[in-house]
Amino acid sequence: MQICAYMQKRENMNFLLSKDTKDCCITKNRKSKSMLPQDQVVKIYNRIAYFYDAWAYLTESKARKRALELADIHNGQRVLEVAVGTGLAFYEIVKLNSEGVNVGIDISAGMLKKASLRLAALSGDNFVLKHGDALNIGEPPESFDLLLNSYMFDLMSAEDMDRVLKQFRGVLKPGGKLVLVNMTKGRTLVSRTYDRLYRLSPRLMGGCRGVQLSSKLAAHGFRVVHREYWQQLLFPSEVILAYK
Ligand SMILES: C[S@@+](CC[C@H](N)C(=O)[O-])C[C@H]1O[C@@H](n2cnc3c(N)ncnc32)[C@H](O)[C@@H]1O
Repeated sequence: MQICAYMQKRENMNFLLSKDTKDCCITKNRKSKSMLPQDQVVKIYNRIAYFYDAWAYLTESKARKRALELADIHNGQRVLEVAVGTGLAFYEIVKLNSEGVNVGIDISAGMLKKASLRLAALSGDNFVLKHGDALNIGEPPESFDLLLNSYMFDLMSAEDMDRVLKQFRGVLKPGGKLVLVNMTKGRTLVSRTYDRLYRLSPRLMGGCRGVQLSSKLAAHGFRVVHREYWQQLLFPSEVILAYK
């Protein structure tokens, strides 16, 4: 049964000039700060870890799948996933990169526990799952070919986004690839429902609101080559491919 309609729209670099991408986190013409401090984010994700996969299946699975396609993992690479969550993408990364090195970090012990259970089905000698903070990644400089991150920037203040992008640049090798997925600003009235819910209660939305990261990435020296808009069960996502 088809339970949701989705729309894929591919765009070229012109999107950088479009109205959609003028700012990273505008909600109803006002800059919105992430209203949840990090300790609250940890608490929320520890709490919702048990049903997160159901939400992810209904609203995020298509964008996440597309991100993995764009990541185009070559077996043997060094891959870092920041905010690995319950390991939905990381499980696929580890399978695709069986001869490489795969590191997954997250600040929520609850999400990491779910990820460990999922990954237990795999051999375990080509991946590490550990507690870690995007604001201070703590991995060696210029050590990863690919960095994947999904649905984390939409939780963050603009200031923290800047700090995290500096960290991302730091750990990626020169020319390294960055694939991002974010909840983004909906293009239709109904797809903006989630942002309206966020304004009512950030907790209700797990702290997430629509963001647009392309301009910020470019400002941090990333070469953004591709952005796609996806919508699943009215939930709007952007998938971005960029290089250091
Ligand atoms: C919406 S979930 C997405 C999980 C996963 N990336 C996915 O797409 O299924 C957001 C995740 O970001 C993690 N997170 C939030 N802030 C973080 C930070 N500063 N460092 C690492 N992980 C963080 C949360 O713990 C949570 O697991």
